[in-house]
Amino acid sequence: MNKRIIEKYALEFEKAFNSYIPQRVCNYSILIDSMRYSFLLGGKRIRPIILMEFYRICGGKDNKALPFAVALEMIHTYSLIHDDLPCMDDDDMRRGKPSNHIEFGEDIALLAGDGLLTHAFYIASQVKDIEPKLCLKAINVLSELSGISGMIGGQVIDLLNEDKRASAETINEINLLKTGALISAAAKIGVILADGSEEMVEYAEAYGTKLGLAFQIMDDILDAVGDEKVLGKPIHSDEKNQKSTYVSLYGIEKCHEMVKNLTDEAISCLKNISVEAGFLEELTRYLANRKN
Ligand code: IPE
Ligand code: IPE
Ligand code: MG
Ligand code: MG
Ligand code: MG
Repeated sequence: MNKRIIEKYALEFEKAFNSYIPQRVCNYSILIDSMRYSFLLGGKRIRPIILMEFYRICGGKDNKALPFAVALEMIHTYSLIHDDLPCMDDDDMRRGKPSNHIEFGEDIALLAGDGLLTHAFYIASQVKDIEPKLCLKAINVLSELSGISGMIGGQVIDLLNEDKRASAETINEINLLKTGALISAAAKIGVILADGSEEMVEYAEAYGTKLGLAFQIMDDILDAVGDEKVLGKPIHSDEKNQKSTYVSLYGIEKCHEMVKNLTDEAISCLKNISVEAGFLEELTRYLANRKN
């Protein structure tokens, strides 16, 4: 893994995340504290990294896409806060700390999620020096893939299939939507803001889909056999909630094989986009062997 590039992004994001997340205001500071608590510390930040890398390899200049990278990470963070709530997966740890609702209570956690979701679009609207029609297209992708035909839709199918032995087809749909959608959004928005061709956008979508599937299968493997301390969230959450996953359907070994194949397929999409995709290739391989 190229540590220098990861560190460059970490520094860049730390500055941007801190400047875009609201500062404390006196009459509802608990909401801001709760949003900052989940957003600012921890997290692999893979979605904003993917967005900025696709923007760069498609010829995007400077950091103009950064507001969209921040917005996407805000949406992802809200999805995690809500995912941990007692009425959803009921998990007490996230990113190595007590989950948002454990620290702030369910009511504030719910509103912090809502706050991050809404603020994401406020931040995205602050993008500068990119053609308005490209910004509009990026907003279209962001709202579609984080919404009912994307992440939220996937979360609903996931919940509806608890306590059931869902088919491989249904599990694929869950993974594609709840996880693949935001990862595809990252790749596609990067290309769109760099004014890449329609063909590039399609390859980016295919990459995001393959990586998203691999990423969720790996998440399910880690839920079964990972180390809670390294993972920063509880293991055996899927078993507790009787989730339908490929791990429950096929077992760990077959799942590792699926991750490997999907990773190779994701990487082959990169080859069609740019010769500069070396770092993304490394990142994609790294994610297939991750421990958190
Ligand atoms: C966790 O996502 C939820 C899934 C979609 C599997 P990440 O593994 O990217 O979580 P953070 O952002 O690093 O905490
Ligand atoms: C949820 O999948 C993906 C989201 C959209 C938040 P999981 O429920 O498996 O994610 P973790 O394991 O809690 O991070
Ligand atoms: Mg869940
Ligand atoms: Mg969960
Ligand atoms: Mg999980």
